Amino acid sequence: MTLREIIPGTPDYDQALRLREAVLRVPLGLRLTPNDLADDARCIHLGGFEDTRLVAILLLHPVDARTVKMRQVAVHPAGQGRGLGAQLVACAERVAKDRSFTRMIAHARGTAVGFYVKAGYSATGADFLETTIPHRLVTKDI
Ligand SMILES: CC(C)(COP(=O)(O)OP(=O)(O)OC[C@H]1O[C@@H](n2cnc3c(N)ncnc32)[C@H](O)[C@@H]1OP(=O)(O)O)[C@@H](O)C(=O)NCCC(=O)NCCS
Repeated sequence: MTLREIIPGTPDYDQALRLREAVLRVPLGLRLTPNDLADDARCIHLGGFEDTRLVAILLLHPVDARTVKMRQVAVHPAGQGRGLGAQLVACAERVAKDRSFTRMIAHARGTAVGFYVKAGYSATGADFLETTIPHRLVTKDI
């Protein structure tokens, strides 16, 4: 998998929207809404490609001078369980560090908390509902 930044408004971004909707919304009976996309222009979009096909996506949303939030972390179902998600998160941490952020956070789906814990994140606080399903805050100093 080759990792690179995706620029909103490009054909790669259209591919990313399709992957985000297919992996993160359709299984919940939802679609991507304008609200989901409202902060896209403020985010760094990282895509993982196999040839020209986008197989993994992650957005980095600056929260404050120190903290950046990972959003919309998704690996195509055919690519899951092959280490691609771990590679994507490691790349996101390098990109965030290069831009002087020192703390990563994410709202992890309950079903994915173990993935973040494997990557060195701590789960804190109580469950909360987002996009209809339980989530937890995960954090890591980078
Ligand atoms: C969660 C997701 C991003 C993980 O990506 P992936 O490529 O499948 O994960 P990897 O193969 O890189 O796994 C890395 C490690 O985390 C573990 N892991 C992966 N998914 C996990 C999960 N859901 N729960 C617990 N552990 C998990 C793997 O077993 C692996 O452990 P190992 O290093 O001991 O082998 C991906 O499965 C996905 O897109 N799922 C559907 C959407 C989703 O839940 N996104 C996260 C929203 S917060």
